[in-house]
Amino acid sequence: MEQLYKKRWIGYLVFGLSVFLLFCLCFESYIKPPVLVSWLGRWHPLILHFPIVLLAVAVFTSFTQKKVAALLLITATLTALITAISGFLLGLDESQKGDLLFWHQWLGAGVALFAALWYWLETLNYGQHIGTKTLQIILIFLVAITGHYGGSITHGENFLDMPKDKSYAKIPDNPLIYEHIVDRILEQNCVSCHNPNKQKGELVVTSLKDLIKGGENGSSIHAGNPDKSVLLNRLYLPKEDKEHMPPEGKKQLSTTEIEIIKEWISLGASDTLRLNDLKTNQPLAKLVTKMMSPNQLEKWSVLPIVQDSTIQRLESDYVTIRRVFGNTNALSINMYTPPTYNPDLILRLNAIRNNIIELDLSGLPIEAKEIEFVASCTNLESLEIDKTAITDHDIKALNTLTKLKSLKVSETEIGDKSTAVLSNFKNLKNLFIYETNISQNGIDQLQGNNPELRIISGISEELRAAFIQTDSIKKEQ
Ligand code: HEC
Repeated sequence: MEQLYKKRWIGYLVFGLSVFLLFCLCFESYIKPPVLVSWLGRWHPLILHFPIVLLAVAVFTSFTQKKVAALLLITATLTALITAISGFLLGLDESQKGDLLFWHQWLGAGVALFAALWYWLETLNYGQHIGTKTLQIILIFLVAITGHYGGSITHGENFLDMPKDKSYAKIPDNPLIYEHIVDRILEQNCVSCHNPNKQKGELVVTSLKDLIKGGENGSSIHAGNPDKSVLLNRLYLPKEDKEHMPPEGKKQLSTTEIEIIKEWISLGASDTLRLNDLKTNQPLAKLVTKMMSPNQLEKWSVLPIVQDSTIQRLESDYVTIRRVFGNTNALSINMYTPPTYNPDLILRLNAIRNNIIELDLSGLPIEAKEIEFVASCTNLESLEIDKTAITDHDIKALNTLTKLKSLKVSETEIGDKSTAVLSNFKNLKNLFIYETNISQNGIDQLQGNNPELRIISGISEELRAAFIQTDSIKKEQ
């Protein structure tokens, strides 16, 4: 076996590869390899595991059993050289090299060259020399540091930090929209390929300045104009499209996350905008609030499964059904008055009643039957039955809706008789009762029973105009 150390051609091979590696690194900017050669670089992430293990085993045997088996050291050295060269080829793909990649490359080359040196010393029978031993120890450290830099390039610089709780529940009460929401979405989905050390498409997404600066094709966001924002367009592209981001196979953004980025851009992509600067009925405020509620997704994970085909079947020109988040089974339903109304429009949703979390029946001519149906949707969290003919009697029927957080019964005939029932909704946070017959006395009573409740009883002209506008836009869709 040890005869292998005497094989001339192995010595030449190790020497040749070492020189080639050094040549590559020194004349990098002049090298434009053909496609096939570049392709060899793609093997780097696979082969790199061999020299790591082999070198570790070789050093270990050298310290425990004196003589290192020739075959072990030779394969360790050759795979180290090949790994370094393939890594170099892979690095040529990067148009811009960050510090991490620079150090990873030179340290990796160091590992390969030190291994070659060790091999050479071993052939000269200097294996047990104190110099060789020192070299072996340095080699192990080099392997560790190179591996760490390599990992940082692919997984992000802080990948060895203890995992942080990334749930949105930890967002401050009045978050900065950019820093606490948008940046976090990008951090979780884009940073692995668009950071200062790995700038795919020359784009870095770690600061607002970099987003505006953009990538190869210029600015990635266009403040105030979502349609012109390359970044957003990429998110909206169909998943199969090769320009879709994040690329197919990577974790995708939920529709809520995409909408948040869109609304933030249309409001000017500011980094000082906070949640409380927004009116509660602005889409961005609604989206962010929705996303922040703790364990929302977990809570909804127990809902019955709804197929996309079921949703499609139940939808019509007057009924839109959306999933509240990415692919949860929690549904949000909007209805618009058709020219000829038939209660079936609502009653046919019976099959998915347990999935309905948000229901908007504003302005529909609903009657007792429909109210009965609404009362059976016991998972409802948001209900809009404003501008309908509901009565105090109907409100009483809704006492099954214990999860209700928001109720809009404004512009109806209900009066003080309803306050007792309304006080019973323990989870209610927002109650819209302007233009009803509820007296100031009734309002005081409601507030007294539930000090946390936000009662919207009067409405400014400006806000009303906004409501009317959003309503009519909805109807045109
Ligand atoms: C797995 C790696 C990867 C991930 C994750 C990724 N991208 Fe990319 N991205 C690329 C590559 C590669 C390119 C360059 C090729 C191209 O233009 O399609 C690119 C290009 C882009 C560009 C075009 C830049 C320009 O000016 O040409 C934008 C914008 C972009 N990505 C946005 C995003 C966003 C936003 C996310 C997260 C939601 C994301 N990317 C996640 C790999 C990735």
